[in-house]
This record gives sequence, structure tokens and C-alpha cells, in this order.
Amino acid sequence: MTSNIEKTSLRDLLCGSVTEEYLGKKLTVCGWVAKRREHGEHLAFVDIRDRSGVVQAVVDGSVDVRSEYVVRVTGTVTSRPTGTINDKLTTGKVELTDCVIEILSAAEPPPFQLDDRVEIDEQVRLRYRYLDLRRDKMQQNLRLRAAVNASLRAAMDSQGFCEVETPLLWAPTPEGAREFVVPSRLHPGEFYVLPQSPQIAKQLLMVGGFDRYYQIARCLRDEDLRADRQFEFTQLDIEASFATQEDIMGFISKAVLDAAEVATGTRPTEIASMTWVEALDLYGTDKPDLRFGMVLQDLSSVFAQTEVKAFAAPIVKAMRVPGGAEFSRSKLDALTEQAKALGAKGLAWFRVTGEGLDSPLERFLNDDEQRAIATCDGAQVGDLVLCVADEHVLACRTLGSLRVTLGSPPVSQGEPKYLWVTEFPMFEGVDEDGNLQAAHHPFTMPHLDDLDLIENEPLKVRSQAYDLVLNGWELGSGSVRIHRSDIQGRIFAALGISDEEAESRFGFLMGAFKFGAPPHAGFAFGIDRLVAIFAGEENIREVIAYPKTQSGADVMTGAPKNLTERQIRELRIKIQPKV
Ligand code: AMO
Repeated sequence: MTSNIEKTSLRDLLCGSVTEEYLGKKLTVCGWVAKRREHGEHLAFVDIRDRSGVVQAVVDGSVDVRSEYVVRVTGTVTSRPTGTINDKLTTGKVELTDCVIEILSAAEPPPFQLDDRVEIDEQVRLRYRYLDLRRDKMQQNLRLRAAVNASLRAAMDSQGFCEVETPLLWAPTPEGAREFVVPSRLHPGEFYVLPQSPQIAKQLLMVGGFDRYYQIARCLRDEDLRADRQFEFTQLDIEASFATQEDIMGFISKAVLDAAEVATGTRPTEIASMTWVEALDLYGTDKPDLRFGMVLQDLSSVFAQTEVKAFAAPIVKAMRVPGGAEFSRSKLDALTEQAKALGAKGLAWFRVTGEGLDSPLERFLNDDEQRAIATCDGAQVGDLVLCVADEHVLACRTLGSLRVTLGSPPVSQGEPKYLWVTEFPMFEGVDEDGNLQAAHHPFTMPHLDDLDLIENEPLKVRSQAYDLVLNGWELGSGSVRIHRSDIQGRIFAALGISDEEAESRFGFLMGAFKFGAPPHAGFAFGIDRLVAIFAGEENIREVIAYPKTQSGADVMTGAPKNLTERQIRELRIKIQPKV
């Protein structure tokens, strides 16, 4: 009974472990008072809660213990009288009787009920996060996260990777988000930058001969917060030398599938894979959610000679929305607005009815065109078909976005679908200054077949970059890196990064590469996102102990806060008045 790891000097075991196995034994548990019910004049039932569950103690009614008092209870494990058994609890067949109860800490009434069944305002939960953490759900989520971390470490260790910690006070990294800066006291007027990822540090480790590196790395990015984004987040970050894209995908697949097995009890089958172009053509996004259909169809050949102006475009894409014929006009208008907001010229919709197509455009289409739409993706009466005719990427992305709006199941629904997306383009569009933008980061190796296109047709250059997607969330990204200075120079030139700028931003990396850079590749995925999906949570805040609110505040500590006059003086910084 007492040889368990739960035992401490103050308790014998956890509350949730008090079962029939211990009938007749005298045991001591510690925990918080979850509930108190008076029983007649002289007795009270008190539920004692710790992280493992609750156990019922029958105590003298005169004992003054209230909600959330911290108590130590010694009592005899006794069968509950018939009719009072609670099958929902592991401890539901027993109770502690003849109890001696010791108050370890009194408590004020909590500002909200610590009960998973009650919906509590998130601001209040975050203001009192330490109380929120006592709730079962938060206990489960953070313990799940710990189990996932442990399994990721084990997977990387077993594949010969070495865990190395890299600095938080660092220089700019190339991930493209705004950075958090830290003023230096010893070097007034100069600043450290908190790393957006260990990208450069890990590439330098390759030069340093650590041919397989990993880290459960804290990353910091000053970007707008969303359900899947926090300022601070955690990556499983890896890099390997003398390794190809396939090697890296193998290492990461093992880590993710092991973690999935630990978290969910079943090991997902092998991870599917498709190229970026296929993902765009079929799902209109680089992060397709494969839990549902609504696959995009290409009707360009049907509309090649069309008389209808709205359909005369480089590509005509269509998507069947099962059951969508019943959408109201205002819902269809809202979808059209969504399409326009994404840059499309418009959205054509067709209800499939017993009498043919119902749409403002129907009468302009010839028979072949009508038939193609009415049978699109096996359409049935009662379905809706949406069409976008436009430039290739825009048409696909627009329908892809509508697909997510109309079809996305909740995070917790359906069998998880993992997917590798490969062959990302090297560049995506241009910035305000007309310079090409790196789709991943400037150290990504172009596809070797496309090297000749870098200078003249850069938007056609494919890269050796790959993403891992789960249920429509981008879980992680990685690439084969450039280790040859000639190719790196051409990419910097294509990105409009001058030699001087490259030298000042990444000079120490390029310098290091001169001393023998092995070919290398790597990857990083967001542990917050992975655990949120395992836990069935829509927002990564639910799997982070102390997250920031949407506006970037920590409502518990009050951060961000003003500095004291002394700190400001020491740092030699000047605070501008608010505008
Ligand atoms: P990338 O910038 O794509 O790649 O980031 C990898 C993964 O990190 C997670 N992530 C975030 N999670 C929560 N909040 C955020 N603000 C946030 N930003 C990113 C995502 C994302 O897919 N150094 C490269 C990787 C490499 O090439 O090795 C990198 O950081 O899950």
C-alpha cells in the first residue's frame, strides 16, 4: 500500500487511488475541498480533490472546512452504503470514515466554480490561471503535453540526435516575423533579439559537427495573435547533416507518430504526401484538411471557348458543396463577399435542383457547360456548385478558403489526417520594394532541376522545402539548406539582399560556412499546435500554462508593465509619450 510513488511524508496516496483495494485500511490523503454536503445535524460529506480525482470523506459536521481549503484527512476506507455508490468515480464505491481532518491552509471563496461543466469567462480564467489549472481539463491538457514532450525526446534520442540548448539572447533570425528586442545595459543603445527560432544556431551546430541536433525550443515572435499563434511557443526543432529531405521526413514522422500513439492510444498509419501544386489544385491551400472531401474540380477545358465573360479566365475551378442548395441568398452573398475579399473577381453559384441548375448565370451557359456544372464531382439534387474563374493560384485559393469555411469539422472530430506537402515554391510574390519574398527562408535550397530558372523565372523555382500538415493546421516546416556559397549568393541577389546587407545580417553564418559546411537539412514543428489537436482544443492557449490573451497581455501578472525610473536610467533608453 505504501510503496507507491504517490507517497510523501504528508500523505499515503493520491485521492483518486483510494479504492476497494484498501478496504478496512487507515489512509491519509491531502487535497482541496471540492464540495461539502451536510448530512443531518452531525455529519458532513466532504469531497477531497487532488490532481488524480476526488475521494469522499465523512467528517464531523462541526469541522469548519469550506470550498478550496487545503486539508489533510486520515480515515478508514469503508464501503459506501448501497444506493450511494457513484460509478463515475474510481473512488465511487468507497469513502473515508472516522476521519481526522487537519486544515493545512484556509481559502477564500474562489472567484469561479472549479468545475469543467461550467462555462467560465476566459479573462477570469486567465486572471486566476492558478485556480483554472486545478480544473480537470487543464490538468489533463498539461499532463498530455508533458507526455508528448517526453515521447518526442525519446524518439529523437533513439534516432541518435543530441539535445543542445541555444541562446535566447541572440541576433536577428530570418523567419520574417517582427522580433522582440531586449535592451543591453552593458552596451547602451544596443539590443539583443529574442530568437524567432533556433534556425541560425542550429545550422552553426552542423558546422560544429553535431550531425544530429534537436531541441524542445522556445521561440518568440511579435506577431498578431490567433487561435494557433502565441508570442511565445515551443517547437521540436531538428537539424541533421549528410541528410536529405526524405531522411528528415523519416525522423519527424517517427517523432510525431510516436507522440500520437502516446497521446491517443493508436498509432496513425503512414503519413500521406503530396506536392504543393497538387495541394493547391485539389484543396486550394498548402495546408489541406483531408478529413473531408469537397475536392476542387478543374472545368477549364469545358469553358475554353465560353461565350460567358465571367468564365473567360486562365482557369475555371469548381467545388461541390453537399446539401448547399438550401443556402439562403444572404448566405450566398456572404460567400461572394468572402471570395471578393480574397481578390477574386466574383463567385458563381449554382443550385442543383430537380429542374436543372438554379442560378442568375444559368441561362447564359450552353448545354455542355450546364452539364459539366450539374455533374461536377458527382453532384446530386440538393447540392450547390461554386465556381471561380481567375488566375490559377487565386482561383484555387479562393475556393480553398470557401471550402474551409463551409466544410471544416471541429478540431476534435474525425480521424486525424497527417500530410506532408513537398516542393514548395522558392519565392512567393514581391514585397513593397518589388523584391521577391522567400517562401520559407533565404537558406532554403532550390530544387536542383530548377537552378537555371533563379535569375529569369524565379516564381517557377521549386524549393526543397516541405511542411507537415495535420487536419488543416500547419504543424511544421523545414527544408534542405544551401551549403554552397555560389547558390546562396544567387538567392540573396534574387531576394534583393545586397552583399553588405547579407554580410551584416548573416555574415557570421556565411563566414562559418567557409570553414567546411556539411550538406544539411532540418525541420521544426509547433508542439503547442500538436498537443492542442491531440487534446481536441481549438485554441493553443488551452495547452499552455500561462498564455497571453488575444491582445498580448498577461492578465495575471499585468505584463507588459512600465519600467521603473531606475531601470530606464540604467538601460539609457527614452520612453516616447503615447500617440
Ligand atoms: P516556421 O516559421 O514555419 O519554421 O515555424 C515552424 C512551426 O512553428 C509553429 N509556429 C507557431 N506556433 C505558435 N505560435 C506562433 N506564433 C508560431 N509561429 C510558428 C508552427 C510552424 O509550423 N526555422 C524554421 C524551421 C526549419 O526550417 O527548420 C521555422 O521556424 O507550427
